[in-house]
Amino acid sequence: MTLPRVTVYNEVTVDGKIEGFSGDGGRYYRRGFGLDYDAIMMGSVTAQSFGPAESEDELTGPGPTVEAVPPPPGFETLVQQRRPTLVVVDGSGTVRNWRHAQAQPWYERYVSLVGDHTPREHVEHLRRRDVEVVSAGSRRVDLPGALEQLRRRHGITSVRTDTGGNLTGALLAAGLVDELVLLVAPKLSSRHRARSLVELPHGLPGSVDLALTDLERLEDDTLWLRYEVRR
Ligand SMILES: NC(=O)c1ccc[n+]([C@@H]2O[C@H](COP(=O)([O-])OP(=O)(O)OC[C@H]3O[C@@H](n4cnc5c(N)ncnc54)[C@H](OP(=O)(O)O)[C@@H]3O)[C@@H](O)[C@H]2O)c1
Repeated sequence: MTLPRVTVYNEVTVDGKIEGFSGDGGRYYRRGFGLDYDAIMMGSVTAQSFGPAESEDELTGPGPTVEAVPPPPGFETLVQQRRPTLVVVDGSGTVRNWRHAQAQPWYERYVSLVGDHTPREHVEHLRRRDVEVVSAGSRRVDLPGALEQLRRRHGITSVRTDTGGNLTGALLAAGLVDELVLLVAPKLSSRHRARSLVELPHGLPGSVDLALTDLERLEDDTLWLRYEVRR
């Protein structure tokens, strides 16, 4: 089975947390868009941040009209470049703000990963929103199967994540991650029980071993670290 190359990309604190600190969002996106990939993958929790969910009335119609969001300063040329596909893992069918995602300047196409367990009305809603549907799995999204379809049917050969620790943990536990690229801020998280870079769904034998391939000290002492996952 030929799968896309998967790069996990996050800004974290020194204690490995993804919340409870203010990062440099502009730099995170600028450097992230400088990496080479065909698609950005996120989970249903992260995708909620695009905007409010549609109301029950809006869901069955054409949806709300959302004005296109202009590229932020420094990203003006983005719209002329080849943009990645947005891929959202959403087996539960909770993402109902696709018009807001489509108004963003970052993406070219939109794909939702679902399974046999995803409510049928939600899949019909996705089709009304011109969101392509990849279905794999019956109780959760089968991540290897979904990635294989992304490669075979959608021509996606590389994916980078923009997500939290649960999806990252599920991808790692399934042996699907090739690389981690981290911005490590010189901070400790201030949040009690802050979410971590990786939340494994179950333990793994041994450790996930990494090989450092790039290291840069940035102007504010943030570290840019690139690791290849050793197989
Ligand atoms: N600092 C950073 O760089 C950064 C970047 C992005 C996001 N974040 C933060 O990350 C947080 C969200 O983290 P999160 O991990 O809870 O949400 P998430 O990244 O949205 O991940 C949850 C998603 O993973 C899927 N999933 C989890 N385990 C799975 C498995 N075993 N098999 C298949 N699918 C699985 C779930 O699928 P179902 O829907 O099917 O259950 C759900 O869609 C937010 O606080 C956000 O702000 C931080």
